Amino acid sequence: MTTLSSAGTTATERDIAAAEAHSAHNYHPLPVVIASAEGAWMTDVEGRRYLDMLAGYSALNFGHGHPRLIAAAKAQLDRVTLTSRAFHHDRFAAFCTELAELCGMEMVLPMNTGAEAVETAIKTARKWGYKVKGVPDGKATIVVAADNFHGRTTTIVSFSTDPEARADFGPYTPGFTVVPYGDLAALDAAVDENTVAVLLEPIQGEAGVLVPPPGYLTGVRQLTADRGVLFIADEIQSGLGRTGRTFACEHEGVVPDMYVLGKALGGGVVPVSAVVSSREVLGVFRPGEHGSTFGGNPLACAVGLEVLAMLRTGEYQQRATALGDHLHAELRSLTATGAVTAVRGRGLWAGLDVNPALGTGRTISEHLLTRGLLVKDTHGSTIRLAPPLVITEDDLDWGVARLREVLLP
Ligand SMILES: Cc1ncc(COP(=O)(O)O)c(C=O)c1O
Repeated sequence: MTTLSSAGTTATERDIAAAEAHSAHNYHPLPVVIASAEGAWMTDVEGRRYLDMLAGYSALNFGHGHPRLIAAAKAQLDRVTLTSRAFHHDRFAAFCTELAELCGMEMVLPMNTGAEAVETAIKTARKWGYKVKGVPDGKATIVVAADNFHGRTTTIVSFSTDPEARADFGPYTPGFTVVPYGDLAALDAAVDENTVAVLLEPIQGEAGVLVPPPGYLTGVRQLTADRGVLFIADEIQSGLGRTGRTFACEHEGVVPDMYVLGKALGGGVVPVSAVVSSREVLGVFRPGEHGSTFGGNPLACAVGLEVLAMLRTGEYQQRATALGDHLHAELRSLTATGAVTAVRGRGLWAGLDVNPALGTGRTISEHLLTRGLLVKDTHGSTIRLAPPLVITEDDLDWGVARLREVLLP
């Protein structure tokens, strides 16, 4: 009898069998085992190459192994990697100052993962509500949108509307009100004197790259300002160049009270996240009230600083705009054929609803894999595309050609 770890005949099959035997099944990866990657391309354990049109859910906006990011990480590895926040280190001030500047804000609270940054935003908003707004203790509420995705902690899944993400993880954290995304009247009705914040993705990524109706973000900005409520923009996936702007909120000329950032802030090299806001808001914290052993560590700050320098050039935002226009024009032509029923998105970010008669998002993704294109499905028959912003137009066209092969056989 073959043991699980040696089951299968190819290196790919053996690796997958071993992973399935010894890791929790909280993911359902496509059957490919990556061994190396560069730019927009990945190579598997058997030497096959794939175009990466997921980019680590936008953590890899600058592609795999960007020389500037790798050099920054290597230089810092030789100096100091971790001090904890018990001591100062010489990368911290520059990182916080430059990130605050990029955001047009005053203060930064660095964490590691996106979910931690969202948790930090929630704690910040509640504390601001009690200390600054004067909400009675324990009464603060935060309004969120249906179909949101903000991470996986017990508090965050408490206000998820996705049964898969939420079921069986109660008891749930109270203090959240869910309203339909894109509906200003519902938001207006949900805000009351105890509301401390409205927490939204400016474009809902996991929901299928849902762009809100024009005027929505402006309306949210106006409403929250009028009612003395913080507008928290979760730009963990939409931010840092993906949509053609540094922040997706910019498409409506909106500046929120707080940005929540992650993913690409660590350049796909290390987990780096942050909450960025005003002194009035982030100034509520006192020593001991919040923290993280790894948050703002020297390696994270060194890589983050390089990411910020790259974003300041504007090159990646421009690429996302130009290549995004090209991608969306190509994708729209697929809707004319009936193979794709809807295309949404901005910049180098797209959600395609595939005609269910052609298969599920998962089966389509598997077919694309066999042709060397890596994408990820979400919610039934939606496929999302988020190639690294360093992808060339030729490679993008190559990827679209593979999509055509699978969707228009
Ligand atoms: C908008 C948004 N917020 C938060 C998160 C959670 O980030 P992380 O997986 O780093 O905890 C994600 C991850 O996909 C996200 O897309």
